Amino acid sequence: MHVLGLDIGGTGIKGALVETGTGVLITERFRLRTPEKAEPGPVMETIRKVVEHFAWNGSVGCGFPAVIKHGVAYTAANISDRWIGFDVRQALVDATGCPATVINDADAAGIAEMRFGAGMGEAGTVLVLTLGTGIGTALFVRGQLVPNMELGHIEVNGREAEPWTADIARKRERLSWKKWGRRLNIYLQALERLVSPDLIIIGGGASREHEKFFPCLDLETRVVPAAMLNEAGIIGAALAATGL
Ligand code: BGC
Repeated sequence: MHVLGLDIGGTGIKGALVETGTGVLITERFRLRTPEKAEPGPVMETIRKVVEHFAWNGSVGCGFPAVIKHGVAYTAANISDRWIGFDVRQALVDATGCPATVINDADAAGIAEMRFGAGMGEAGTVLVLTLGTGIGTALFVRGQLVPNMELGHIEVNGREAEPWTADIARKRERLSWKKWGRRLNIYLQALERLVSPDLIIIGGGASREHEKFFPCLDLETRVVPAAMLNEAGIIGAALAATGL
């Protein structure tokens, strides 16, 4: 089955057609910049342009950077507050005329990694992280997703983890990989105490450079880089639209 996967991020809105049986992209990715302030109107308009680019009228699966329940956004950490209570799924249907499914973006990336990537065949508790503008977390127990975990917002040493540990903090504060890696280690140790995972998968933009910061990690848990890099969000969103 072919589904148009969409990944709504803090900096880019990306899409591609996905063959859901294999998790393979059957088109190039198409990306537009996320509009400044990420307000619902301009973001929906940008999504419409991405869908239009593919001249698509089949199913659309969308990963969105917020808690999503039944298509509605409940939080807005790196996007406009105006998304809170917004029916993203209905707006997608209205903007594109396509049947649509919306889930949290990290949950989408996690679904793809579990099915086709670094979590394939893992039966225990797996924690997938996406380190980018925000910190996304997806938790799988025996292959089953526990949606909307939002562990990027836990408090570690008296402060919220996300603004201190996200990849954007490394860039903003011009931290060396080593210095940022030590921060990440403190955060991952806190997650380890919280959910006792069997495996941690690190995804998002920073995972491409994992060799630079993995040596800073001192954990009981096995840690591996994501296998699908920045395609995981698109692929997992498409899989979600098939009911997986
Ligand atoms: C949001 C999450 C999202 C993550 C990655 C966080 O700020 O609260 O919902 O998954 O960023 O985009």
